[in-house]
Amino acid sequence: MFPAFPRPKVQNPFGLQLREEAALATVELAAAMRSAGKGTLILNSGFRTYNTQKALYDRTKETRGLAVAEKLSARPGHSEHQLGLAADFSARGQGCVILVCFGNTEAGRWLEENAHEYGFILRYPKGYRAITGFQYEPWHFRYVGVELATEMNTKGIKTLEEFWELESAPDYANPAG
Ligand code: DAL
Ligand code: ZN
Repeated sequence: MFPAFPRPKVQNPFGLQLREEAALATVELAAAMRSAGKGTLILNSGFRTYNTQKALYDRTKETRGLAVAEKLSARPGHSEHQLGLAADFSARGQGCVILVCFGNTEAGRWLEENAHEYGFILRYPKGYRAITGFQYEPWHFRYVGVELATEMNTKGIKTLEEFWELESAPDYANPAG
């Protein structure tokens, strides 16, 4: 779902969907970001089907090569976007849309600091590729619920792999090619 409001605090120009709890949390997150004076939240990517993820992965591989595709895009069947619990955010007028420099925008910094209060974690933090398998993605947030996000924040644990003591960046069942 993605609830529509007459004067939305979160913009959803592509009409994207998220799972209900993540959609409701996104609306709260956007309202808080606006109140903090950090801008208007835009949802650039939400729920993706297997085929959409496949198209994204294949396009990245074709245009930028296998190595870039592997660090930037999950293979189809492996993306948190397919769960409807991942959201790629930007902020109106702040640029750096789906770029590493988003992490240095007002909105990007505010989101990294505060998103846990609304149940989101920055899923692919800087310097954690060996653990998460993916490069720094300051735009990609994963809804995990306020309780878990807050506990991770309090304990200073940044990744789900570390929190749940999972193997770091586990290999896929089959090699990419
Ligand atoms: N960009 C993230 C890793 C994804 O494709 O789900
Ligand atoms: Zn994403």
